[in-house]
Amino acid sequence: MTTQIDSIRVDARAELVRVTNLHELDAWHSAVLGRKGSLTNLLGTIGTLPRAERPAFGQAANDLKRELEAAYEAKLADLKAHALRDSLQEARVDVTLPGRPVAPGRLHLSTQTLRDVYRIFGLMGFQIYRAREVETDEYNFQLLNIPPHHPARDMQDTLYTTGAGVILRTHTSPGQIHAMREYYPQPIRVILPGVVYRNEQVTARSEFMFHQVEGIAVGKSITIADLKGVFIEFARLMYGADQRVRFRGSYFPFTEPSIEVDMNCMICGGAGCRVCKYTGWLEIAGAGMIHPVVLRNGGYDPRQFTGFAFGMGVERPAMLKYDIDDIRYFFSNDIRFLEQF
Ligand code: PHE
Repeated sequence: MTTQIDSIRVDARAELVRVTNLHELDAWHSAVLGRKGSLTNLLGTIGTLPRAERPAFGQAANDLKRELEAAYEAKLADLKAHALRDSLQEARVDVTLPGRPVAPGRLHLSTQTLRDVYRIFGLMGFQIYRAREVETDEYNFQLLNIPPHHPARDMQDTLYTTGAGVILRTHTSPGQIHAMREYYPQPIRVILPGVVYRNEQVTARSEFMFHQVEGIAVGKSITIADLKGVFIEFARLMYGADQRVRFRGSYFPFTEPSIEVDMNCMICGGAGCRVCKYTGWLEIAGAGMIHPVVLRNGGYDPRQFTGFAFGMGVERPAMLKYDIDDIRYFFSNDIRFLEQF
């Protein structure tokens, strides 16, 4: 009997040495120590032995069992350590590799420009007033002193709807009426940002949708000097301390007098270049004193109140600042363009 125990020991030990992976180790374990393993089988024969031999045999067989279990555990630990070392070797992390940059989202260039504008007018006490994009002919034109068939309607090609009786606003100016009707009889100092729509041929210079920022101030002693001061301050804060501003007479049905605001060209500093068409000046806004008819349409008595209004683009100034030569880039959603700002 002890010879059988010895031969199981010798065989099992020899087999175990040949085991090279966890799978083989598993097989070895069932072949020796499993329910039908060689040692288990041998232990099962204990009942066939003469009584006197049983204790010694049981003792020896159980010792072997413990010994082989220990050998199994040791081999298992060894194989696992090897496997770990191998996998670490294989999947080694090269800590000297530069990381992949995460691509953070960013604000659209129009939004960035708008926020600059908000900040500057905020410093001058202007609040933001949100007006609707879908308008009626009445607000977009008539209340702004542009009756049907007025030739000034040709200044802005309109997107009409069929049947609904509404239009897409062609400028932010109808917001003037909404703001006045809401604020009356208080004084007003608001900017009205948003998109406007024009039924235009899309070209490098014009889109059918773009942003404007309207501004109005209404009060009891507002003069065109205030408008001038606001624009000088705006140009200085938006484009730099040495910016110069000039006013030119113009015409809008809803302002009287009407002006256009020019700023010296930020590309050439006023010396003259392609962008400013060698004039040294760039147009940045239409503006004027709110027409008495418009004040009255907003609820304010023009004998007591005066006000100024202006409207400026957002994409155009950004194009000038960053030397972008095609307005279509703004809304074509090309990441390569958007990522640059
Ligand atoms: N609404 C005018 C435009 O879109 C700009 C403007 C606004 C002019 C306010 C005067 C006063 O061209």
